[in-house]
Amino acid sequence: MNLKSDDKNFSDTFAEIDLKIFTKNFKIVREYARIKNRDTKICSIVKANAYGHGMNVMAEELSRMGTDYLGTADYTETASLRNYLDTKKFHKVPILCLGLITEKNQLTESLAGKNIEFSVADLRSAKMLNDIGNKLNRKPVIHIQVDTGINRTGIKAEDAYKAAAEIYKLKNIKVKGIYSHFATSEIPGSSYAGLQLKKFKEVVKAIEESILKFELRHISNTGGILNFSDGYFNMVRPGISLYGFYPDEKKVKHRIGIEPVMSLKSKIKFIKELGKGESISYGRTFFTNRRTRIASIPAGYGDGYPRSLSNLAKVFINGKLYKVAGTVCMDWIMADIGKKDKININDEAELFGRNYPAHKLAALTDTISYEITCNISSRVKRIYKK
Ligand SMILES: Cc1ncc(COP(=O)(O)O)c(C=O)c1O
Repeated sequence: MNLKSDDKNFSDTFAEIDLKIFTKNFKIVREYARIKNRDTKICSIVKANAYGHGMNVMAEELSRMGTDYLGTADYTETASLRNYLDTKKFHKVPILCLGLITEKNQLTESLAGKNIEFSVADLRSAKMLNDIGNKLNRKPVIHIQVDTGINRTGIKAEDAYKAAAEIYKLKNIKVKGIYSHFATSEIPGSSYAGLQLKKFKEVVKAIEESILKFELRHISNTGGILNFSDGYFNMVRPGISLYGFYPDEKKVKHRIGIEPVMSLKSKIKFIKELGKGESISYGRTFFTNRRTRIASIPAGYGDGYPRSLSNLAKVFINGKLYKVAGTVCMDWIMADIGKKDKININDEAELFGRNYPAHKLAALTDTISYEITCNISSRVKRIYKK
């Protein structure tokens, strides 16, 4: 008999993904993005394993709820998602790959034969896709990526008009969209975002006036949706808000009722009593300041719980928060649970979630909630709550 190592019922540490909350978040974000225009399309971002939530399941839910597009980053992730959705009869939901295709190979050729749309950030890759289109006798669909100021990837705004004219001459690709990406949209009223928006509008206008009309124009991530309604155009690309977080918890101005989807949960596996002045865990970074009990929880940086949270974070047990005591290990976290509270072996410990949101952990280590959920490692089972 095979050992059932993947049986979710036997995992001490797991990520609970609440699909009801996810559905609610999607509907809230869609409604918000459609305030100005009921036809605004939604490209739901599911890259990086849906920010750690599990790409296939989340993309399937989004497809069921009627997302217009799904957004991925990496080509292998795009291929695997396309295969999955095709088996689930969602072959009609297009995937927009935000990553860049720079090489012609078997994978890129096979992607071009499917319902996948490509980001193009230079003429060279447009020509390559054009060659692939010629070979396959099927036009790859592209979105021109314009860099209006994030200075990451994309055709520079000032070169975009000329590039679009060249790209438009390539007859074996279909130019469907144009897009850009904000650098500071999480800041309400950001003048830099305003500048990017202005540049994008100018580029789109110039190209549309004399070269071609785009079916899709888009720039807004969650920050753009919340803070720059002028930037909706006819498609938006929300990511983090679908998973229940604001891009910057401190700066948020418009709360729209979204809630965290993921909770990282575990169980108390060991409890010991220690006298005053005893050290806990590697490096002896924590000393008990009284007689107390220490609970050991089988989760650590091997599960993606940041080691930098040692002696900083809290753990939610039976309705109360307790301090992480000592260095976070690869497989263990210890918490100082005091002498009095009723806590037993196998009681649940929430490392983050509804009672102690991931953005609080993020703030403790000067990062963002995106990084906390993305980093939950593959050994942590994702358990989907319907
Ligand atoms: C190009 C692009 N669009 C949209 C998003 C979604 O952004 P957010 O998760 O802030 O909504 C991202 C995320 O990093 C992105 O890189």
